[in-house]
Amino acid sequence: MKTNYALLLFAAIALLGSSCAFEEDNSVRTLTLDLPQTPDVYTTGTHLPTLGRVLFYDRKLSLNNSVACASCHKQTLAFADNVRFSEGFERKLTTRNSMPIQNILGRSHFDSLVVIDPMPGFFQNFLFWDGREHDLKTMVMKPIVNHVEMGFTDLSELETKLGRVPYYETLFEKAFGDRTITEERIALAISSFVQSISSQQTRFDRAAMNNEPLSALEQKGRSLFTTVYDCNSCHQVESPHGYLHAGVFANIGLEANYQDNGLGEVTKNSFDNGKFKIPSLRNVALTAPYMHDGRFETLDDVMEHYSHGIANHPNLDHRLKTEKGTPRVMEIPDSDKDAIIAFLHTLTDYQMITDKKFSDPFKVE
Ligand code: HEC
Ligand code: HEC
Repeated sequence: MKTNYALLLFAAIALLGSSCAFEEDNSVRTLTLDLPQTPDVYTTGTHLPTLGRVLFYDRKLSLNNSVACASCHKQTLAFADNVRFSEGFERKLTTRNSMPIQNILGRSHFDSLVVIDPMPGFFQNFLFWDGREHDLKTMVMKPIVNHVEMGFTDLSELETKLGRVPYYETLFEKAFGDRTITEERIALAISSFVQSISSQQTRFDRAAMNNEPLSALEQKGRSLFTTVYDCNSCHQVESPHGYLHAGVFANIGLEANYQDNGLGEVTKNSFDNGKFKIPSLRNVALTAPYMHDGRFETLDDVMEHYSHGIANHPNLDHRLKTEKGTPRVMEIPDSDKDAIIAFLHTLTDYQMITDKKFSDPFKVE
């Protein structure tokens, strides 16, 4: 009996100790306002995205100052995270794998303008793995009020909190002409920063401009990807966000029965069960682990799935079925897997992941 009490006490102290250590972040993070300016994608202005960048990296956006957007969206990883599920403000885990942020063009900045879509699907109108948000400006506020991620219940508390931070006076004044902090302005600034994160400097892009040819192995991988294994029927690597004409969602047979039904949870239509957004493969070499639940640790594991791991789910996409309607078994030889993986590495944008305009403006002391 005695030992049990001792154990309990020990556990309680350990718990207390760990949560205190997490909530009290003693590192001092300072900000100089002499920042490399982040340009807005739609205007020549820089003050709005620069404010957004500070907000993106500021842990004050979480209830206990422990987590920033950048905690789960790391620049060196194309703004994704390298763990299966990320830790939120109370160390609880997200239920899905964090996503890279790049080439997201929201429509929201055009609300007041008359715009003609340059081409269908040009704007990224489906955000998150299940596409449940359609407007970037609304979407960027969701993590702040998420009970796992950043924990605010009332955004007016955030307005008041940021109003007490001296550097925001200057930053809001520059971005909006006065110091008033509103939820709307926070959303505009963060979404302007998020939209400014663009990736166009991969070896793949340079090869497309005929500036730098791919190696023989990469070229072989590219042609296997587009022809033999037909990956490109879903992952359209040449489009900015990866699925221009492929449709947005697909079920790739990860399970015969999904625990997380993705799009199906949103539409409540069983026909959508197990469908997830077709992810962009830009920077995919940096964004392990893979899939909505980070189940695969490496690209090799992903290739194994497509090679002979596709499960027979009733909603399995037709592009991954044989003519008889059974799951395709591609039995991809190792040499082909290696070539495809070499090709996927040409989609890495080293400029974006080191660009000062997107980097952490705070200095940790
Ligand atoms: C605790 C970790 C965590 C924090 C903090 C966080 N995110 Fe995320 N983010 C995620 C996860 C996980 C997903 C995927 C969620 C899903 O699909 O349900 C995601 C998805 C996104 C996406 C969708 C990308 C796409 O292509 O659809 C964007 C954009 C994004 N986050 C921006 C932000 C911004 C801006 C902040 C700060 C206000 C933020 N995130 C804070 C974990 C986090
Ligand atoms: C039917 C459409 C479709 C086809 C064909 C397809 N994929 Fe996918 N791919 C998806 C979807 C959807 C996901 C995300 C699934 C999930 O998380 O549940 C995905 C995920 C991935 C990922 C992980 C990306 C990440 O960020 O987690 C990689 C890598 C990948 N696919 C490579 C390939 C390769 C290589 C091929 C060809 C052998 C291929 N895909 C064929 C739709 C497709």
